Amino acid sequence: MLVRGARKSSAVRESLSGQVNLIHAGVVFLSKDLLIRLENRLAKDLFGWTEERCIAPLYEVLPIDSEEYQLLCRIVAEDCEYRDAVVKWEAGGTVRHVLMDSFVARHAETDEAGVYVVLRDMGNFALLNQHTEKIERIATIGRLAAGVAHEIRNPLTTIKGFLQLLEQRLERVDMFDEIAYIRVMMQEIERVNALVTELLLLSKPQDMAWTTVSVSEVLGHLRPWLDEEARKRGVETVYEVPADLELQADRGMMEQLFAHLARNAIEAMDKGGRLTIRGRTEEGRVEIEFSDTGPGIPYYLFDRIFDVFYTTKEKGTGLGLAICQRIVADHGGHIRVSSKGFGTTFTVSLPQTRSSSLQVIRHRQSS
Ligand SMILES: Nc1ncnc2c1ncn2[C@@H]1O[C@H](COP(=O)(O)OP(=O)(O)OP(=O)(O)O)[C@@H](O)[C@H]1O
Ligand SMILES: [Mg+2]
Repeated sequence: MLVRGARKSSAVRESLSGQVNLIHAGVVFLSKDLLIRLENRLAKDLFGWTEERCIAPLYEVLPIDSEEYQLLCRIVAEDCEYRDAVVKWEAGGTVRHVLMDSFVARHAETDEAGVYVVLRDMGNFALLNQHTEKIERIATIGRLAAGVAHEIRNPLTTIKGFLQLLEQRLERVDMFDEIAYIRVMMQEIERVNALVTELLLLSKPQDMAWTTVSVSEVLGHLRPWLDEEARKRGVETVYEVPADLELQADRGMMEQLFAHLARNAIEAMDKGGRLTIRGRTEEGRVEIEFSDTGPGIPYYLFDRIFDVFYTTKEKGTGLGLAICQRIVADHGGHIRVSSKGFGTTFTVSLPQTRSSSLQVIRHRQSS
């Protein structure tokens, strides 16, 4: 609309000037003799211009030695036309990034020669960039980890095989000390194996075996181990899960998910406490809550705790929550964390049926 040689009727002009305020961008016109017209409110905001009038010499709006002043001068002197140029924009005491377009044109009302410049505020562009870089970095680490994990598996299997052979031979000659060493070595190999399995789980899409899963059955299966771990730390366990609470999911993944969250909760309570696991349905979703009475998590760490390898534990690997997030996302659900200085609650929200999990994904994509 705001292009070259436009001579509009006054009615059109009025409607244009009304609409220019609706555009979510700052629009300015800069004439050849460096008179700037701030065409809408957003333009005033972007230039930090607080005066009533909308027309001023450019040097009044921007300091002559500023990069922004130099850029606009160059655009008008050289008739530069930009499309989607990302520019760091420092005006009115605020630094931000803007997406800039410029159009060589005559002014819609006065017919002066000059350029229209449209600036779209991308205030947190730098942050967005950082976020994208972070995601790319994690993806690269993931690919690297998957490659390394795969390569580690084969030699491990060979080492384990030979150790078993050695163990049998040592048993025949009653070399008990050596047998004990071999068993320690095998245990360590199992640990590396478990880590490799988790890494592979994180880095490639999993085939899911969807079935109807009973939450209380899965928890019942975990319970002997969970209660024993809790007892060792003086933690009381409370289960408030309706017997008929069911959802469609991959059973193995659900077991892994509940085990990770319950273990984190127990590990957070060194000096005893209470772990409460609650289950309920909520508008077509199944929600399972793991609440502990541990020290809590500061809110600024809420994002970081889900990062791969983020751990505050001496013997932790920092994969637990990353795996939980992956499992929950694969089921079309989400995890919420809340912690108010005392105790932490992780709430897993999962669609009750598989078809509703697909709807959720579609809904997110379209919104
Ligand atoms: N219930 C909780 N209370 C307090 N802090 C928690 C809780 N759950 C997780 N965290 C914090 O989040 C970090 C990351 O947890 P995550 O399960 O990913 O790794 P980890 O438990 O440290 O190691 P791993 O699970 O791989 O053995 C933990 O080290 C801990 O600092
Ligand atoms: Mg953990």
